[in-house]
Amino acid sequence: MAAKDSRQITPQHVAIIMDGNGRWATGRGLPRLKGHQAGAKRVREIVRACPDLGVRYLTLFAFSTENWRRSSAEVSGLMALFRRYLMSEAKELKESGVCVRFIGNRAALNPKLVQLMTRLEADTVDNTRLNLTIALNYGARDEIAMAAASLAQAIARGDIDGSAVTPADVAAHLYTSDLPDPDLVIRTSGETRISNFLLWQSAYAEYEFTPILWPDFTAGHFADILLSFGGRERRFGAVLT
Ligand code: FPP
Repeated sequence: MAAKDSRQITPQHVAIIMDGNGRWATGRGLPRLKGHQAGAKRVREIVRACPDLGVRYLTLFAFSTENWRRSSAEVSGLMALFRRYLMSEAKELKESGVCVRFIGNRAALNPKLVQLMTRLEADTVDNTRLNLTIALNYGARDEIAMAAASLAQAIARGDIDGSAVTPADVAAHLYTSDLPDPDLVIRTSGETRISNFLLWQSAYAEYEFTPILWPDFTAGHFADILLSFGGRERRFGAVLT
């Protein structure tokens, strides 16, 4: 792959695994859902901070395909929180120029939540100040398997030559086909795993693991990480002269 500009200062696309809500709550003797509520406030703060920090694309991991294994009370509490967030934030997101997309499998989600998601996408489709992607019931392996199935259908139709499938063909069948790859992936809470998030898209991303729990992660912490990214040289597999 040809070298891109290694002097890039601000990452164009930042993806975040928002982890640590549960520990934040239990550490305070509170129910886990209180941690998710505090986390939702940070979502608002980080989204608002992006345009001034020069971030054009923000992708947030809100609910994974594995998160259904949590207690039914936590899952339904999270789903209710997503609905409330979309209802309460829709106006500000629309008016502040945020284009919202959702990635993940919608089939298993409550139809009322899906309706809110679809409406917000339609209402913000022309916005360009910030591209906010919310991964909801998202899993990278599911996404890649879905892309493989969809490629197989394209090959069967004769639209693609099955003996010459390219990485660009695969990328075009992912949920993220119209997004640039993330430059930087941040995970909060001290865990150093990727947990099935954007596996294909993050092939050349930088990673930042911070011990701060998501409900404590402020716009100031975010700005500090972006600053440190500016000092890293990205080679994309090439040797730069
Ligand atoms: C991981 O923390 C967090 C989640 C599974 C949910 C993320 C949801 C939010 C931040 C709420 C609002 C989001 C939006 C988009 C409105 P955890 O519960 O796994 O924490 P733990 O590892 O400490 O238990």
